[in-house]
Amino acid sequence: MDFRHQAITVAAVASVSADALLVVLVGSKAPADLPAALGKALQAALKQGDLVLEAGRTLYLGQVRGVKSPRVAFAVAADSTPRSVKGAFAAGLAQLKGLGGRHVAVWIAGAGVLREAHGEALAAAGGDVSYLYRHTKPSAGPTPKLTRATLLCTRADEAAVDAGVRLGAAIVAGVTLARELANRPGNHCTPAHLAEQAQELAKAMKLEVEVLGRKEIEKLGMGALLAVAQGSQQPPRFIVLRYRGAAAGDAPVVLVGKGITFDSGGISIKPAAEMDEMKFDMGGAASVLGTLRAVAQLKTRVNLVGLIPTCENLPSGQAVKPGDVVTSLAGKTIEILNTDAEGRLILCDALAYAERLKPRVVVDIATLTGACVVALGHHRSGLFTPHDALAEALTRAGDAALDPCWRMPLDPEYDDALKSNFADVANVGPRAGGAITAAMFLKRFTDKLRWAHLDIAGTAWKSGAHKGATGRPVGLLTHYVLAQADGA
Ligand code: BES
Ligand code: MN
Ligand code: ZN
Repeated sequence: MDFRHQAITVAAVASVSADALLVVLVGSKAPADLPAALGKALQAALKQGDLVLEAGRTLYLGQVRGVKSPRVAFAVAADSTPRSVKGAFAAGLAQLKGLGGRHVAVWIAGAGVLREAHGEALAAAGGDVSYLYRHTKPSAGPTPKLTRATLLCTRADEAAVDAGVRLGAAIVAGVTLARELANRPGNHCTPAHLAEQAQELAKAMKLEVEVLGRKEIEKLGMGALLAVAQGSQQPPRFIVLRYRGAAAGDAPVVLVGKGITFDSGGISIKPAAEMDEMKFDMGGAASVLGTLRAVAQLKTRVNLVGLIPTCENLPSGQAVKPGDVVTSLAGKTIEILNTDAEGRLILCDALAYAERLKPRVVVDIATLTGACVVALGHHRSGLFTPHDALAEALTRAGDAALDPCWRMPLDPEYDDALKSNFADVANVGPRAGGAITAAMFLKRFTDKLRWAHLDIAGTAWKSGAHKGATGRPVGLLTHYVLAQADGA
């Protein structure tokens, strides 16, 4: 979908030439800034009881006398915040997407001043509504006809809205890529497939890419990544993607994404129920690819590196066993007490690699723990970092992107849980505080870094009837990287 803006007067909304006009009504009173023809149609609908001014409600009217576009729909938003307006956009666009129109113009009535975030919200809603997974289900249906959305605004708001739709369009492209890759099943989306996708992305967006195979990973000494990978027939990959948007000497922002293309638990095997959802265990990796896509599209003046350790976690005669001790790239030995705590193993080697890039900041993104889902549910990602300013910047980025996170603690007291009699560190502690001990494990590999960890186990995908990847936290990460750019 294509997103634009158009500056216009209230009266001219009725004569906009589009295939459909979506009018978002803000608040519980009929807004004043509606052209006469639409005001009349709204009054009639309210009087007849066809529409109630309650958030989430929509009404499709078809043709309205005095309005040029042949289709008109209303959608109600509780208030003018980008979050509320985005909900109304999504509901309204969902109404229109099955119809014949290609181009929808959107007018927000009663919102007052429009900001960048409103433009961004339209793109986000449009992307959500129009995405269709087809890779292994070509019968899913035809591409929705809706291909363009234009946010109407006043001259005064034009610059902000234009910036917003551009940013939103880039994020949507990144989110869509992340969703698509994460949705692909484990037998399709293997480590080799992820590497190919990274190479395609590099070609399309002019990034540099390096893909290390098993031999090269062995040569580097990534013993923890290799231990996880050794139970599978699918060889691991270590993917390095570079976007150069700033001077060569500018220290890069480094994103590290967990790329477990299927997590069975290994010898510490998981229960069967919902194990299929462990194909989403590469959601962190997908979000790194999506963020690189968005940042490259925006030509952001920053150097950005994406690191993706990727493999399968399977049981077999060659698989790593509970009690095995391996040596990580950092030189620390690790006692693998539970082979299902594999994410932190592949990440610690990637974090050690990140140190070599002399980064200004490293953020890892991982579907790391069920405990994080227990703690925060499915709304906020878990954020762990010892650096207050970094925590603030990431929290702000998440709020701005409507892709929120919540800071969790990293007190040294939690570290005792990882003591081992047979290695420098154990890969698990007790059940209690599991998201925190996982982060404490990673922290042990980040002494020399400005580092943050995002646990996206609860936010990277949805279960149930709407099972599918969300593309989170591409929005949060893109906003964060943008804020690190030269001149930002
Ligand atoms: N990929 C899982 C985490 C996960 C589980 C995400 C369920 C979303 C839903 C991770 O590799 C894992 O298995 N973690 C274990 C850690 C435990 C063994 C300490 C967990 O959370 O149970
Ligand atoms: Mn696991
Ligand atoms: Zn996992």
